[in-house]
Parts: sequence; C-alpha cells; structure tokens
Amino acid sequence: MTERNLSKAGVNTRLAHSGNDPRDFFGFVNPPVVHASTVLYPDAQTIASRGQRYTYGTRCTPTTDALASAIDELEGSAGTIIVPSGLAAVTIPLLAFLSSGDHVLITDSVYFPTRHFANTMLLRLGIEVEFYDPLIGAGIERLMKPNTRVVFTESPGSNTFEVQDIPAIAKTAKARGAVVMMDNTWATPLYFRPLDHGVDISIHAATKYPAGHSDLVLGTVSANEAHWPRLQETFFTMGCCSGPDDVYQVLRGLRTMGLRLERHQKSALEVARWLEAQPGVARVLHPALESHPGHAIWNRDFSGSSGVFSVVLAGGGVRHGHAFLDALQIFGLGYSWGGYESLAVPVNITDRTIATGPYEGPVLRLQIGLEDVEDLKADLQRGLKAAAEA
Ligand SMILES: Cc1ncc(COP(=O)(O)O)c(C=O)c1O
Repeated sequence: MTERNLSKAGVNTRLAHSGNDPRDFFGFVNPPVVHASTVLYPDAQTIASRGQRYTYGTRCTPTTDALASAIDELEGSAGTIIVPSGLAAVTIPLLAFLSSGDHVLITDSVYFPTRHFANTMLLRLGIEVEFYDPLIGAGIERLMKPNTRVVFTESPGSNTFEVQDIPAIAKTAKARGAVVMMDNTWATPLYFRPLDHGVDISIHAATKYPAGHSDLVLGTVSANEAHWPRLQETFFTMGCCSGPDDVYQVLRGLRTMGLRLERHQKSALEVARWLEAQPGVARVLHPALESHPGHAIWNRDFSGSSGVFSVVLAGGGVRHGHAFLDALQIFGLGYSWGGYESLAVPVNITDRTIATGPYEGPVLRLQIGLEDVEDLKADLQRGLKAAAEA
C-alpha cells in the first residue's frame, strides 16, 4: 500500500480514514483502546530525558492521538486536546489564556454553564467578565479594552440561534491582541471551520454529533499554531485527561458523522419548514431558514446546518409550553443533543442581559434525531394541539 494523502479527499473519505494508520498496529483497521497510567522506558537515560513518544497516561496515548489527529484534520488545527466533557472544553482554554486582571468578552447567547463558569470561577480569579450582544460584529471594537485578553464566541447562539459575524469579530479582536475562541459544537467542523475564519481556538462538545449516541460526554479543543503550545501546556498542567473507552467511542462516531449529519440536516429543515406553516407557531429559530434574521451570514459562512433549532409558540406562557412538551410521545424531554433520538426542552433565557428577545410565546428547543420525519411531525402536531387547548 502506498502512502496516502487525504488532504484533498472528500469529507466522508476523511472521516472514514483520518486519525490512525492501520499499519501502525498490525493492520487492524481501528486503533487500540489503550488503558494506561505507567509507560515503561528502556533505560535510565530515556526516562531522565523523557525521550520517547509516550511518557505517562495523563498526557497522550495511541488512542487519544488517533482522535486528536482526526480532529486536527477536520479543523485544520495545529493540535487538539481531548478533555472529559464539552464543558471542560470551554473552561480549560479560558483558564489557559486568562489571568487575574484580564478582561474577557463573552457572547450573551452563550451556553448557560459557560456563563456560570465566567460569573463564578473567573470572577473569583480576578478576571473582569463582560457579556456582549451576539449580533455586535465589528462593533466589538467599542468594547475592547487594553486588558481584553479573550473574546469568546458561540454561533449560532445556544437556544435562540443568533448567528455571529465571526470573521468580523475575529479580525477586530485580533487586531487588538485578544485570543478568539469559538464554541463550534452546533455546526461541527463539517459545516464550519472556525480557524479558517480567524478564530484561534475551536471548541466542541464531542458529546453531541461526534459521539452521536447519547452514551458519553467528551470535549475537544483545537488551536492554531500560535496558541497550541499554551493550550497543550495547560492540559498537561491540569491533568484533565479522559477515559480511553470514551475517546475511542468518539473516534468510532466520527466515521459515520457525515452521514448522520446529512440526515439530521435534512430532517430538521423539513420539520422546521413544516412548523413555520403551522397555526400556533409564531417563529422558527433555525439559521438555514430564509426567514431567520441571521440567514445571510449563515449562508455566507456555513456549509450546512445540524439538527437543533427552536420554535416560538404564538402566545401563551409556561403552561402552554409545558402542555406542548408533555403531549410528545417520540421526542424525549431531556438535555443534550446530537444523538440519534429526538429531544425537546423548554428554553429559559432569564439569565441573559442583552439577547433577551422579545419572543411571542414559549420557546422550545428541538433536537431532530434520525427517526422518520412523518412520525416526528405527527408528534409535534400533538404538542401544538395540547398547547392550543391548555
Ligand atoms: C453549545 C454547547 N457547548 C458545550 C456543551 C457542553 O457539553 P457537555 O454536555 O459535554 O459538557 C453543550 C451541552 O449541551 C452545548 O450545547
């Protein structure tokens, strides 16, 4: 077999073949799942100089290397760390690049636990935290201070799906010397490559589409050349390594992620368009819909959409939202997304200070799974009927 070069291959080919080379492990197609603390060295000189590729279980193993290099291939990054959850994939880079006295700007429609981390631990560490309008674009310039060290983005925003002008934000922030981070979980690197748009650090809850089966939590953080050494050093310093079985399962999930995402994308769009036309629905918050205020930017920057969006009911309050959810038979009521099964949750944005709406009625987030679309529509019809009768 000759040396293969996949850099110009299609995305499904890269998903099928990136990460590990079967020739490194007796031709087995998949990499070994290495359970390890101790790694033996051949002699005292090698141990003194740490002169071999693998040195200890907390750093890296052939299993973590396989996943990290597959993610690098997809993200176009210089290096990737694998951490125990998507939330850790947010907190570790923030801790890596922020110090006491620094100022951090965070989009107001950020995933709630990111806000909580900033408002508790970052504040306690003496970091000045400020939330900004997700639609600010190049206007972020107004908020930049001499001590602004990190600008944190997430696009589309959690639950309400505001699309950020990432290239404009990144350009402005970097001109002022800030590190630009993006939680890119929604799009996956298949539909948006943050580093190509000026972002320095790309964050993923691999729990979602990469894992794809709602059976584990894991995170990845990928950095460009300039920011990789510090990210890696923080990872080593904090000892926040993950279990090999979960790492392996995410690599396994990546192999089919392209196909799964195609289906999530198609079904979610079909359901979103159908919902838009239903009585009892005020709006559907899905960036790939022409009606979405962020559609033009989404269309310019993203190459696809995933399966999570929200629906705004036409009037009513908590009682109507709960009646909708309680009537569902196929959609499960529970957090997370990116798995094979459909889910629904009520959206609560009372923590926000800027991206607060207004919304015409209850906002419900839907994750469209791999089920048959007609069954999902019938389930949502039950929900709409229950909300109307509540
Ligand atoms: C946008 C986003 N980022 C990060 C996370 C955190 O991922 P995890 O559940 O693996 O901690 C989530 C989880 O829902 C999320 O929606």
